[in-house]
Amino acid sequence: GELWEQYSNKVADRMNNPRHFGVLTEDDAKQLGGRLVIADEGAESCGDTVRLFWIVDPETDIIKKATFKSFGCGTAIAATDMMAEMCIGKTVDEAAKITNLDVEHALRDEKDQAAVPPQKMHCSVMAYEVIKRATSIYRGVDIATLAEADIVC
Ligand code: FES
Ligand code: FES
Repeated sequence: GELWEQYSNKVADRMNNPRHFGVLTEDDAKQLGGRLVIADEGAESCGDTVRLFWIVDPETDIIKKATFKSFGCGTAIAATDMMAEMCIGKTVDEAAKITNLDVEHALRDEKDQAAVPPQKMHCSVMAYEVIKRATSIYRGVDIATLAEADIVC
């Protein structure tokens, strides 16, 4: 069907076989010599929700490890998985600049116009929003004070 064709192979692959699914604990943080950050975000419209785990090196602000758990749809799982991958090795400030479009672009197959049908763009917005939430927790600031990225949904 037409909808079937609108999902990329990368989305299909990651929703079924996410690379960064799982939790991180204080023990993991201690082992890696970093700080554990846990952030939740949800989408009121569909009830989906994700939880992002970061271990951040407090001296360099570099995200050493990123994983997630999800009660989200397949697209949310694929988008959050790609987002977690994009966070690893970046500083918190660099990660905070990742937009939902960056995630969606990374999920496209080579000649795709889009990785998902338009109705599913909000799933990638949740991946962006949870980075913002994690950043506000790491920085100890109100989320409203963080800059808004350009969201396309
Ligand atoms: Fe589950 Fe639509 S929200 S199928
Ligand atoms: Fe809501 Fe995917 S349907 S996050």
